Amino acid sequence: MVDKLDRLRRFVCELTALSDAGASEAKLLDCAAASLRELVSVDDWLPPEFAAPDPAQYRQYLLYCDPLERFSVVSFVWGPGQCTPVHDHTVWGLIGMLRGAEISRNYAAGRSGRLEPKEVVHLKPGQVTAVSPRIGDIHQVENALDDRPSISIHAYGANIGAIARHVFMLESGETKPFVSGYANRALPNM
Ligand code: FE2
Repeated sequence: MVDKLDRLRRFVCELTALSDAGASEAKLLDCAAASLRELVSVDDWLPPEFAAPDPAQYRQYLLYCDPLERFSVVSFVWGPGQCTPVHDHTVWGLIGMLRGAEISRNYAAGRSGRLEPKEVVHLKPGQVTAVSPRIGDIHQVENALDDRPSISIHAYGANIGAIARHVFMLESGETKPFVSGYANRALPNM
């Protein structure tokens, strides 16, 4: 029997090979998006402990972090109706929908320097979208479903739970620093 975590291991191997080869961000996003699409095309491999919602707020579980912190892979688990604040990433990111549905509301700084709403992206299982400072990396994400959890698998160009990022208050124009951390202490046994 094929170990279901082989799917995740293959994705990690692809990201490692691209990082080792010094792939440009554009090439990496292109190739890794195709691998992530494959990973989220089947919903049978994510262990339940990395798919558990929390009634209070969305959860980010670390699935793998490159030892050189060149990339990380996480599962993002939304309870019904949960959403993030408007935030940035400061590095490239790929978001692949595994289960349920989510909505990403994108923002970019306008002429005044204030954030203005841009496109709204609806993600369904099997679909992948990208963020990066180069192509736009500020958004607010919500579970599109108010009656059940949704789960997406993300890859980022750093140890995403450990880096300094920003949350944006649209009303006041205020920016606050944050470090997201992770909800888990143990990792999947790949
Ligand atoms: Fe995000």
